[in-house]
Amino acid sequence: MDAEAYRQDALTAVEHADTATELDEARVRYLGRKSELKQALREVRDRETGMALNAAREAIEEALTARQAELERAELDRALTEDVVDVTLPGDELPLGSLHPITQVRRIVEDAFLGLGYEVRDDREVETVEYNFDKLAFAPTHPSRSHRDTFFFDDTHVLRTETSPSQIHSLEEREPPIYMVSLGRVYRRDAITATRYPIFHQFEGLAVDKGLTLADLKGTLLHVMRALYGPERRVRFRTHFFPFTEPSIEPDVSCGICGGAGCRTCKWSGWIEMGGAGMVDPRVYENVGLDPEEWTGFAFGCGLERAAQLRHDIPDIRVLWEGDLRALRQF
Ligand code: PHE
Repeated sequence: MDAEAYRQDALTAVEHADTATELDEARVRYLGRKSELKQALREVRDRETGMALNAAREAIEEALTARQAELERAELDRALTEDVVDVTLPGDELPLGSLHPITQVRRIVEDAFLGLGYEVRDDREVETVEYNFDKLAFAPTHPSRSHRDTFFFDDTHVLRTETSPSQIHSLEEREPPIYMVSLGRVYRRDAITATRYPIFHQFEGLAVDKGLTLADLKGTLLHVMRALYGPERRVRFRTHFFPFTEPSIEPDVSCGICGGAGCRTCKWSGWIEMGGAGMVDPRVYENVGLDPEEWTGFAFGCGLERAAQLRHDIPDIRVLWEGDLRALRQF
């Protein structure tokens, strides 16, 4: 065979190969096992022909390698210009949630009490009648003990109607001085309306130490109300009754909408009811084995939904339970 002519043909074929497939075809055709060159190499008899054929093989191999590199570079150029990715485009937005208004208010209250050195605690929602009523000195005939007011599991177990059982649990767990706040859900058999819901949240505070007075209670509530509603707020007490405090009071906070002048929100009184409070009743100390002559203290309980409604001016409590994102995204 004519090695030189063969080499020329092969190089032309390689040169004209425009794709990887065409280049492969040229490789098989000119260097493959059944190619003319491989046949000739097998039959070679003299040194000169052998050298000429091998020189042709090497030249073709080099051309193939060079052409392959050229095709790869061309493909890369094409991809870089045609398959454009703009790395400066903004990414897909990940929807970030926000804390539920009740959680926000809960954290404000927790922070305010942590700042006063209080312990934050969490207690059971399924309570015994003993802790929900008896040890808190509820009279046997108190209406809250009725199945019409309270969710009962059986004769001795209820869904707690207030966070006050936490007072008993913390007093039984260790010796005073105690400064604690307990936050969580409570349950009452109320119909659902704009202002009531059968499930709601309270925060309950208890301070037991030597020499505590109503003035300490008032200062503590003032601190928390200002944390919740701003530094301008004032607090006042009205007398009331709770089985487990004596004296018992209801704290009011000055209305922030009218500044105390009177408006629709505060029902023209200038004040908004915040919950219940009082000095710990001697019977509570006796029920947990403490000497009422030795210890003094105060307790208070307020609703978190109430606080969230006031902070954000939410007219209907149901918004806080329906999970409608159109409403919740506003907070
Ligand atoms: N537990 C009472 C209520 O739910 C509030 C309260 C708490 C009153 C602590 C006095 C002391 O109405």
